[in-house]
Order: sequence, then C-alpha cells, then structure tokens
Amino acid sequence: MPALKRSPGLHPDLSEVLLTDLQIKRRVRSLAVEIKQVYGDGEFTIISLINGAVMFTCDLMREIDNPVRLDCIRVSSYGSKTKSIGTPQIIHSLTLDIAKRDVLVIDDILDTGKTLKLVSELVRALRPASLRTCVLLDKKARREVALEADFVGFEIPDRFVVGYGLDFAERYRNLRGIGVLKKSKQTVGAWAVG
Ligand code: IMP
Ligand code: MG
Repeated sequence: MPALKRSPGLHPDLSEVLLTDLQIKRRVRSLAVEIKQVYGDGEFTIISLINGAVMFTCDLMREIDNPVRLDCIRVSSYGSKTKSIGTPQIIHSLTLDIAKRDVLVIDDILDTGKTLKLVSELVRALRPASLRTCVLLDKKARREVALEADFVGFEIPDRFVVGYGLDFAERYRNLRGIGVLKKSKQTVGAWAVG
C-alpha cells in the first residue's frame, strides 16, 4: 500500500496557523460536554450548514452520545471573495420534519451573522420545540446583525481563515488545522491551473 503523504509544518499558502488540529479536537470535545449539559440525554436534530460545517459537524456528532438526527442546509457562499456581499440565499433546504423537535444549527463561522439569521428564521418558521446555534469560530468584530450563537468554539480576530472545512473558492477545506490565508492567495488567479 502506498504511504500516506502529509507534509509537516505550515501550508505554504498560510501566513500563520491560528488553531492546530489538536486545539480543535480538544475544544470540540469540551463543546460536546457543554451541549450535553443543555440537552441531557434527550434527542435533538442537528442542522449542518454545508459545505463549511462538514468537518466540525462530523467531529462534534461523534463526541455526543445522545440520539441525534441530521439534516443539512446549503446557503450561497462567497464564491471567490473573502467578504460577504449582499444577502445570502438558501440553495438547498431541509428534508427532515423539524416541527416540535429540538434543533441545533451548526455552522463553521459566525461572521456578519447574515447566514445564521437567515437559517434561524427558516427554522423558526417550521415551529421547532427549541432552536439553538453552535459555531466553531466567531469573528465578533465583523457582526452586522445582532445575533450571538449559543455555543461558540473560539473567538477569532478579523482575518480570513481556511482549513477544517473552511474554504477560499472551495480550496483548503481538507487542512487539518485552521490558518490565515496569505493576502497573495486571496485571488483565484493566485493558483496554478490543474
Ligand atoms: P456571515 O453570513 O457573514 O456570518 O458568513 C458566514 C459564512 O461566511 C460562513 O458560513 C462561512 O462560509 C463564510 N466565512 C466567513 N468568514 C470566513 C472566513 O474567514 N473563511 C472562510 N469562510 C468564511
Ligand atoms: Mg459557510
């Protein structure tokens, strides 16, 4: 079997690592404890905002021993930009019935707050028994709508970050840690084609 190649050290497109995979792993575990304290042993329905929250959702779910149901919502992304423009749109909505269910919405990062506000409004209209929100990262400095998440992994400074599910133009989601993308790489033309 060919050996798995994983380059050590900082990815060349990052200017710094903000959170290592170990720091994330530890925080995900403690977040699971916080979540468990609220829900007890009860069942709840997780709504994951894809693609960004994919890794976080998978890891967090596996730290929780409650019965859970999973559904996903796809919201329009920044594309190849690093700032949110206009209003986000729902691209793909829920398939599960969430009426009278306890719902936990999970996203990768809370930035302006527009995405989580949009999704919260959609969920609330479906009359769940309760609605809570959980984000791995919180860029408080950039908030445009008054909204806080119930569970927050890390507060981070106003920098454009990638890795552990977070992307720039769909790249870097598979990095194990989270780091700041170099300014010179924040344009699509910065990559070699192929
Ligand atoms: P908001 O609607 O401005 O709160 O943006 C939330 C969404 O923007 C997140 O779900 C992310 O997909 C994306 N986003 C915000 N900041 C970053 C970042 O630093 N890196 C990658 N994606 C980001
Ligand atoms: Mg997202």
